[in-house]
Amino acid sequence: MANLNSLSCVLLIFASTLISTSCSPLPHKRAALFVFGDSLFDAGNNQYINGSRPSANNYWPYGETFFKHPTGRVCDGRIVPDFIALFAKLPILPPYLQPGEHNFTDGTNFASAGAGVLDGTHPGTINLNTQLSYFKNVEWWLRQKLGFAEAKKTVRRAVYLFSIGGNDYFSLSSSSPKSTPSYQRAYVEMVMGNLTNVLKEIYRIGGRKIAFQNAGPLGCTPGTKAMDPSVGGGCAELPMALARRHNRLLSNALQKLETELPGFKYSIFDYYNSLYDRIFKPSKYGFKEGKAACCGSGAYRGKNCGGNNGTTEYELCSNPSEYVWFDMAHTTEGANWQLAKLLWSGSPKVTGPYNLKQLFEHKL
Ligand SMILES: *[C@@H]1O[C@H](CO)[C@@H](O)[C@H](O)[C@H]1NC(C)=O
Ligand SMILES: *[C@@H]1O[C@H](CO)[C@@H](O)[C@H](O)[C@H]1NC(C)=O
Ligand SMILES: *[C@@H]1O[C@H](CO)[C@@H](O)[C@H](O)[C@H]1NC(C)=O
Ligand SMILES: *[C@@H]1O[C@H](CO)[C@@H](O)[C@H](O)[C@H]1NC(C)=O
Repeated sequence: MANLNSLSCVLLIFASTLISTSCSPLPHKRAALFVFGDSLFDAGNNQYINGSRPSANNYWPYGETFFKHPTGRVCDGRIVPDFIALFAKLPILPPYLQPGEHNFTDGTNFASAGAGVLDGTHPGTINLNTQLSYFKNVEWWLRQKLGFAEAKKTVRRAVYLFSIGGNDYFSLSSSSPKSTPSYQRAYVEMVMGNLTNVLKEIYRIGGRKIAFQNAGPLGCTPGTKAMDPSVGGGCAELPMALARRHNRLLSNALQKLETELPGFKYSIFDYYNSLYDRIFKPSKYGFKEGKAACCGSGAYRGKNCGGNNGTTEYELCSNPSEYVWFDMAHTTEGANWQLAKLLWSGSPKVTGPYNLKQLFEHKL
């Protein structure tokens, strides 16, 4: 490895004397990945929160496809951050709260099923502000282990990947379905205000590369359909409208941060439309079923996947890869693989202004 590094260094000197910074022998060249968010990205943190057994989803058939045992991921197999780590040639990132020794040089995963941006969304989960405080602990760890300069470099080069906001809007839609439009607008602004503060704090600590999977088509989940039979095969309008508004504001907020903060780079993956398309045109993407879940009970199998750890009955499809949805609100490993590929190397129409591959490769 050292030989390879010095070889590429010599070549770079011949290529251009301007690229001299590429020549410093770095002990660790690849960019780390720090994952923040909700159940779409939770690699198992919730099972380690005191007193939160049921929302941890660490029971069968979660995990059946890839890990062959439940890991706390709300999926039959791998989630998007697992595939991003694979594409970035990083190991699968363990959940931050997993007991035992950690090596944070390649990053870690702070996401928590049920979490939102707002502290009041689903108390008991790890909300975004707490996830940020965990990141500060990791930055301290990096300084202790790598020294100040190398820790700084690791933080600068790292990619910060987010999936957050959906639970804030599920929560508003179910608790205040008749809230006024002006209340809803103020609510989305409050979410965005808090989210922007977290991003500014990551920048202040030294992070530069921010990536988002935007809010999904929240009204089209099997869980939403199961709760409200009037939705039928379509989508509930309020959560959809909140997600679209959030996504417009997110895009504006990131553009603004890019102009305000030198060196700030970002990526937004259009999860909303990418998933919507798969729900309504499953066969175009190799799926047989776009609306009902593989696992659960009731209409669209929109609840109770795993039957509360096998204590009640539920249905389970024989081949999850034929389904877009694994359970009430979470996609299958097969769908996650497609979504992750779009995040990684999607065209600017789907993932922009940069995709994750470009963010990872971007030199700082
Ligand atoms: C859970 O409780 C134990 C014992 O009180 C404590 O050491 C640990 O930090 C707690 N974990 C979390 C995630 O709060
Ligand atoms: C962490 O892992 C990296 C390789 O990914 C290795 O170089 C480093 O020595 C490890 N650090 C600690 C403290 O274990
Ligand atoms: C953040 O959210 C809280 C509610 O949890 C709200 O009172 C506050 O105004 C929000 N902050 C911003 C900057 O929007
Ligand atoms: C699920 O049930 C099995 C045995 O029936 C038990 O060993 C396991 O701890 C339970 N898991 C959860 C998350 O409650």
